[in-house]
Amino acid sequence: MRALVLNEAAEHRLRIENIELPKLSDGEALVRIKAAALNHRDEWIREGKYAKIKYPSVLGSDGCGVVEEITGADQSLWGQEVIMNPNINWGSSELAQSADYEVYGMPAWGTFAEYTVVPAHRLHPRPAHLTAVQAAALPLAGMTAWRAAMAQGEVAPGQNVLITGIGGGVAQFAFEFSQTVGAQVYVTSGSADKLQRAVEMGAAGEANYTMENWHKQLNMVSGGFDVIIDGAAGDQMNVLLDLLRPGGRLISYGATLGRPEFLNVYKIYWKQLRLQGTTMGSDKDFSDMLEFINEHKMLPIVDSVYPFEAIGDAFARMQQGEQFGKIVVSMDGTEQH
Ligand SMILES: NC(=O)c1ccc[n+]([C@@H]2O[C@H](COP(=O)([O-])OP(=O)(O)OC[C@H]3O[C@@H](n4cnc5c(N)ncnc54)[C@H](OP(=O)(O)O)[C@@H]3O)[C@@H](O)[C@H]2O)c1
Repeated sequence: MRALVLNEAAEHRLRIENIELPKLSDGEALVRIKAAALNHRDEWIREGKYAKIKYPSVLGSDGCGVVEEITGADQSLWGQEVIMNPNINWGSSELAQSADYEVYGMPAWGTFAEYTVVPAHRLHPRPAHLTAVQAAALPLAGMTAWRAAMAQGEVAPGQNVLITGIGGGVAQFAFEFSQTVGAQVYVTSGSADKLQRAVEMGAAGEANYTMENWHKQLNMVSGGFDVIIDGAAGDQMNVLLDLLRPGGRLISYGATLGRPEFLNVYKIYWKQLRLQGTTMGSDKDFSDMLEFINEHKMLPIVDSVYPFEAIGDAFARMQQGEQFGKIVVSMDGTEQH
C-alpha cells in the first residue's frame, strides 16, 4: 500500500512509499482510509520538534474510512464508514491521561496511508450528516476543543469567551461549541481575512494580535472575558491575564509561541484567576463531543482538500499558517472541497 513515511534522513523526511499492508492482531480492525486530516502535531513531528519521535513512522491522527476486516472483536462495524478516537491508553481518570498515554499516528502508525490498523474499540460510525472529508477533520481537534471549552472551560450561555488564533483547527471547534451553547464568542487572529470570516460566522467581536495594544480595544468593547481558550501561549499569556474578568479562567491547550519569559503571578492571585492546562481528551470527552456534533448537526470547517499525492503541499500550507480550518487529504481524490 502507499503511505507517507516519516524517515530520519532529512533528504527524504516525508516521502510516499510502497510498504506492506499491516497485519491484524486480535481485536484490531483494518480500515481503508478515504480521507485524513492534518494536525499541527504532524508538522511539529516533521520539524523534529516533538518528544520521542520514532523512525520510520506513518503520521496522521485523524481519518475516516471503511472497515474491511475485524479480527476477534464485535463485527458490527464491518463494511461501515468510521472515524477513529485518536487516544491510546487514556486511562480511567477524567482528570488527566495515564503515564502510558499515546496519540494515534506515531508511534502507532497512522492515517496518512491507504490502510490503517486500529483497535476495534477505537472506532465510531461516521456522523451521518458529515462527508468523509468533514468527518476526517473532526477527531483530534474536535476532542481537544471539546475538553478545553466544555469540560475544562465550562463555557455556559451568556458568558464572554475569547478564542485566540481563530485560523487554527482546535480554535474553530472551540468557537463552534461555545457559540452553540449560547456564549458570546470573540476571536483573535493575525489575519484580517480570517477575522472577517469569523465575524461572518457570528463572532461578537475581534482583534488582530499583530496590532499594537490590540487587547486594550478588545477589553473596551467586550468588558473582559469569563473564559479564554488559548493555544498560542508565549509572553502573550500575560495580556490574556489582563483580559480576564476577576474569577475568570485561562484554558491553555498549546504553545505555538513557546514558553512565556515570565508570567504575572500577581495578576493570577489578585484577580482570583484559574490557569487550566488541557491536552487531547478522555474517551468520555470523545463520546460527548460526538454526541454534541450529531445532536447539533455541527459541520467542521474544512480549509482545503488535497489529493494524497500532493500531501507535501498540505504540510506547506499548515507551515505557512494560511489555513482557516482543517487541511484534509483525500485518498482517492474524489471528494473535493
Ligand atoms: N494539547 C493538545 O492536545 C493539542 C491538540 C491539538 C493542538 N495543540 C496545539 O495547539 C496549537 C494549535 O494547533 P492546531 O492544530 O489548531 O494548529 P493550526 O490549525 O496549525 O493553527 C495554528 C494557529 O495558531 C495561531 N497563532 C499563531 N500565532 C498566534 C498568536 N500570536 N496568537 C494567537 N494565535 C496564534 C494561528 O491563528 P491565526 O491564523 O488566526 O492567526 C494559527 O492558525 C499548536 O501549538 C498545537 O501543537 C495541542
